Amino acid sequence: MSLTGKHILSSDQFDRDELERLFELADVLVPVARGEQVTRVLEGAVLASLFFEASTRTRLSCESAFLRLGGAVTSTTGTGVTSISKGESLADTARVVGGYCDLVVMRHPEVNSIHEFAAATNVPVVNAGNGAGEHPTQALLDTFTLHREFGRLGKTMDGRRIALVGDLLHGRTVHSLMKLLTRYEKMTIVCVAPEELGMPAELLELAEGRGHQVEVSDQPGQALREADVVYATRLQTERFADKPVPYSDDFRIDRSLVERVCREDAVIMHPLPRDSRPGANDLSADLNQDPRLAIFRQTDAGIPARMALFASVLGVADEIRGSLREARWYRPSFTGPDDAPFYRNSTR
Ligand code: NCD
Repeated sequence: MSLTGKHILSSDQFDRDELERLFELADVLVPVARGEQVTRVLEGAVLASLFFEASTRTRLSCESAFLRLGGAVTSTTGTGVTSISKGESLADTARVVGGYCDLVVMRHPEVNSIHEFAAATNVPVVNAGNGAGEHPTQALLDTFTLHREFGRLGKTMDGRRIALVGDLLHGRTVHSLMKLLTRYEKMTIVCVAPEELGMPAELLELAEGRGHQVEVSDQPGQALREADVVYATRLQTERFADKPVPYSDDFRIDRSLVERVCREDAVIMHPLPRDSRPGANDLSADLNQDPRLAIFRQTDAGIPARMALFASVLGVADEIRGSLREARWYRPSFTGPDDAPFYRNSTR
């Protein structure tokens, strides 16, 4: 099934063949994302980037991906500066913005917003986060990260043990990721959360129904053992009003826990932002020197993964390979001080 012209609202729209096609293209686009090569397949195209909720990574990553494909970007952030603050409906906004651009990326705090918006325009709409619902492009980049990390480690995607940790009830990234993990074979998905913040039952049932082993635990110290992947998440405090939820320091993923229980070849991920405030019990900065920590490889992977998606939705994926040329401007040979070993993983 071609993605051309489609709205991308849920990660369940990607089957395994589609994922493999997107990752093959994303691998080709890694040098473009790094500023080593140039393509202009979207020259003349316009992205409207509408973020009605806080974002750093997703907005900049989507915009950079579109710009690196040769397109242009127009954007608005927050509702205070838009006509939504004057009572305009999302449907009206969608119809109007659709007349200004070729692709829309939208984030909104309400779960139903994206469906309402997409129904009002034929211009493809990509969901960049709908409340506690989904975040399909994050799941795409997370799975693309796994494809590259497992490639580097000599592991297959199938048969892996993946631990999802933290606020699995409100975390939209893990909802979308669950759906993509079920596209592989014989996975063991371990959902590690306090009882009040567990993975929604329909997602546990979906994974079981597709033949995977699902385990539920509230004990990170036990559940992380033997995991190929530890995917930590932030407590989504903005999604529940004043209701205190017990979130003990057992959920803090730090060096002492990782050294005690994690595999030598574990991949430690997080969609970011991680909450670094005292008592937040999120992924700890004391892991920053540990090569198992893949969080910045993950953010880097967001650009080629989103480029592959945008090129596919706009029907120019087949033109990419023939369009590449060398970039001439200065770029450091790797981005972060600790990245050198991972930059050898380029496909060129
Ligand atoms: C996440 C989100 O907005 O859902 N961030 C992101 O897009 N990388 C995760 C979060 O806010 O905790």
